[in-house]
Amino acid sequence: MGLLTEGINEIIATTRQNAAPIGIINRGGSLKIVLFKGSHTVENVLSDGIFVANFVYDPVIFVMTAFEDLDKQYFVEEIFEDITIFRLEAAEAWILFKAELLQETKESFIFELIPLKEEVVQLNLHPVNRGFNSIIEATVHATRYVAHQDPNLFKLINHNFSIIKKCGGKRELEAIKLLINCINRIVRKK
Ligand SMILES: Cc1cc2nc3c(=O)[nH]c(=O)nc-3n(C[C@H](O)[C@H](O)[C@H](O)COP(=O)(O)O)c2cc1C
Repeated sequence: MGLLTEGINEIIATTRQNAAPIGIINRGGSLKIVLFKGSHTVENVLSDGIFVANFVYDPVIFVMTAFEDLDKQYFVEEIFEDITIFRLEAAEAWILFKAELLQETKESFIFELIPLKEEVVQLNLHPVNRGFNSIIEATVHATRYVAHQDPNLFKLINHNFSIIKKCGGKRELEAIKLLINCINRIVRKK
């Protein structure tokens, strides 16, 4: 499966000039995504049938794309067979996927993915870092926490924060600050 590892690959999906972290499931020789209803990503994938998977290793961009809209300057235009697509400037590599609807459930749409084009822009070495991994964990929990304010999720987020503070670098610490601001802003609005 080329650039993807077995299991779930956390990439940032770009659809038009929208970006959001999404997990690509690579198991048993097939590639799938499960998109929960209500996001811009699911609306765009349903209408366009394509998206770009961006391989990004910047923790701040993961938090930003999970909670906010990115400015246009974060996107780079690419052309595929007369179609204009957008990938992230920060992507070290990207894959354009066709997404075919397999199934609709009460909460989600499940798509099978077919790679159309891939490009390695600039691959860097990323030593395993628990701080970065914990930002991903905390951001996943936070996207659920803002919806229901489940105290167990709050505990998990705080547990991840302690790992990020111990193991992360400057960018992870910046990502924590942004994540706290996003959580507070959304929860306060409710
Ligand atoms: C690491 C990570 C992985 C995620 N994976 C998925 C996923 O596979 N499917 C999904 O529907 N949402 C997933 N999310 C949540 C979306 O990114 C989130 O709902 C986002 O706000 C959607 O943004 P949009 O409305 O701009 O599409 C994930 C979030 C994170 C942080």
